[in-house]
Amino acid sequence: MAFETGLLQKIDDIISKHETQQSALIPVLRVVQDSYGWLSPESMEEVATILDLPPSGVQNVATFYTMFFTEPAGKHVVWVCRTLSCALKGAEHIEHHLCKKLNLNTGDTTEDGSITLMEAECLASCGTAPAMLVDDTLHENLTKEKVDSIIDSLIK
Ligand code: FES
Repeated sequence: MAFETGLLQKIDDIISKHETQQSALIPVLRVVQDSYGWLSPESMEEVATILDLPPSGVQNVATFYTMFFTEPAGKHVVWVCRTLSCALKGAEHIEHHLCKKLNLNTGDTTEDGSITLMEAECLASCGTAPAMLVDDTLHENLTKEKVDSIIDSLIK
């Protein structure tokens, strides 16, 4: 698979800022995922070719980190923080509410492909727990009502 010129330029830019191809791998995977929504086997192979790394090494990194999707993810990705401060403030209930509302289990995508639900480590918003990240937007001081309104705005 050949990446588009714009993506190739971003990758070149990342490579130029890193001392080794290996150290550029995670940021490169990030921009590829941003472009396609997930990391297909073909795109991982292309990354391996560009960075001159073994395809298995690229795949190992992509499958190790939960932030990378090696299967198609939903149009929106909801990350619920499950670390201590959020856990103490009821993150478990928020996650359970999301599972019920979206009719899925954590790690799954809604049938219509609109939302993927994931658990996250600390989102650096402990003082305003519980928190969740929806795509690039942080939502804090969550309540079930607040979650409903956020999710409804995504699937309207
Ligand atoms: S513990 Fe949830 S934001 Fe830090």
